[in-house]
Amino acid sequence: MAALSFVHHYQPAASPGAPTLLLLHGTGGNEQDLLPLAAELLPGAGVLSPRGKVLEQGMARFFRRLSEGVFDLEDLRLRTAELADFVTAAAEHFQFDRTRVIAVGFSNGANIAGSLLLLRSEILHRAVLFRAMVPLVPAPLPSIPRTPVLVSNGRVDPIVQVEETERLVALLRAAGAEVTLVWQQAGHQLVQADLVRAREWLAAPEPS
Ligand code: MLT
Repeated sequence: MAALSFVHHYQPAASPGAPTLLLLHGTGGNEQDLLPLAAELLPGAGVLSPRGKVLEQGMARFFRRLSEGVFDLEDLRLRTAELADFVTAAAEHFQFDRTRVIAVGFSNGANIAGSLLLLRSEILHRAVLFRAMVPLVPAPLPSIPRTPVLVSNGRVDPIVQVEETERLVALLRAAGAEVTLVWQQAGHQLVQADLVRAREWLAAPEPS
C-alpha cells in the first residue's frame, strides 16, 4: 500500500480502544529504538513506530536540517504532511482508533511531533516531547484544540538551550495546547526521571 510508505513497526494494543503510541526516534535511530520506552510508558498501548526517511550521512531523520538546529522548513512541512498521512493510513489499515494517537518523540522525533501539533493537530490526541526544540513558527498561528503536551527537556542540554525550550512552550501555549513543562537535571540524553515523569503524566486522567 503506497500510503504506508514508511518502514515501520506496528504492535496492536492489548485491548481494543487503548491508545496507540506514535514513536518518533532521534537522529540516527530507527523504528526499534523507542520500543522499550513505550512498554515502560504505557503498557498495553498499541505502537506505531516509523523510521525517518531522510538520510544524513547514513543517519535516519524525519526531516532535513541545514546544520545543527537549523531546519529546512520546506522539507519539514512536506515531511510533516507525509507523516500525518501515514498515521491516518495506518489507522485505517491496522484498524486502531485514530482519535487516540499519542506521539512520543525524542530530539528530531520530538521536533517533528511538535510540527505535527502545529500543522496537523488533528492527528494527535496527546504528545510527549523529549528534548524538543521549536520546529517552525507557522503564520498565522494555528489553533490547537487543548491538546495535552508534556515537554521534558534538560537544563544543561548543549543542543537545546533553556530559552529555546521556553520559546517552544510559549508557542504551543499560544496556539492553545495544554503544556506541562518538566525540567531534568540532564543534557540531551534521556535519564530515568524523564520516563518516571512521563509515565505519571500519561497515567493521569485527561482533562475533560
Ligand atoms: C538532532 O540531533 O536531531 C537535533 O538536535 C534536533 C533536530 O535536528 O531535529
